[in-house]
Amino acid sequence: MRSILVVNPKGGCGKTTIATNLATYYAVWDISTALVDLDPQQSSMEWLRVRPKDENSIQGFNGLKGRIYPEEGTRRVIYDCPARTDSKKVARLIELVDVVIIPVMPSAIDMRVAATFVADIMGHVKKSKTKVSMGVVANRTHKNYASYKALAKFLRALDVPFVGALRNSQNYIKAADTGVGIFEMSMSEAKPDMKEWAPIINWVEEKRKLK
Ligand SMILES: Nc1ncnc2c1ncn2[C@@H]1O[C@H](COP(=O)(O)OP(=O)(O)OP(=O)(O)O)[C@@H](O)[C@H]1O
Ligand SMILES: [Mg+2]
Repeated sequence: MRSILVVNPKGGCGKTTIATNLATYYAVWDISTALVDLDPQQSSMEWLRVRPKDENSIQGFNGLKGRIYPEEGTRRVIYDCPARTDSKKVARLIELVDVVIIPVMPSAIDMRVAATFVADIMGHVKKSKTKVSMGVVANRTHKNYASYKALAKFLRALDVPFVGALRNSQNYIKAADTGVGIFEMSMSEAKPDMKEWAPIINWVEEKRKLK
């Protein structure tokens, strides 16, 4: 079972968006997936509540209520973290997971928070020698803007791989409202968004020793 943590202490950078849309990618391919919401606001679970019944199911767990019990045969577990998760808690979580996705938005404040966070977490990873793959994803980008170029330069200089960039797109707003993911929208509507996920999914799915 491959487990994926989506985390960044900065609020509103796209953790829930990435966790829920990634879950729909697996759902579309009929890969049994559990979404674990660690946020007291329970945004991922709210999204699951409005999810149309005719879409492939995604298991939902409130990760704040004790142990989670994914169904037998579950192949992916995605953890959606709240804002302000402190690095001690993240250090415990990374012991459990195989992959960590850190979304970062193109703003100076977000970049500063990300730099400190990545340095902190890398410190824990090196100390604990845990096998985990961490990567950053640029989110809400406008590719031709100077802000994106600054973000890309910043992300490339970090100690973790820069695995992909997602554009600012109304499709994510619609997906959040309606309980679907961009992979469940029509190609004519969401093809540019789907294409941007290819390098991210390839990286998440890379052959690696799982815990
Ligand atoms: N690529 C994107 N394009 C357009 N809107 C986006 C994109 N990513 C996120 N959003 C929107 O930005 C808002 C914040 O995103 P999201 O809830 O995923 O962030 P978060 O990191 O989970 O926030 P929190 O820290 O509060 O949990 C939401 O309204 C979401 O729909
Ligand atoms: Mg969230």
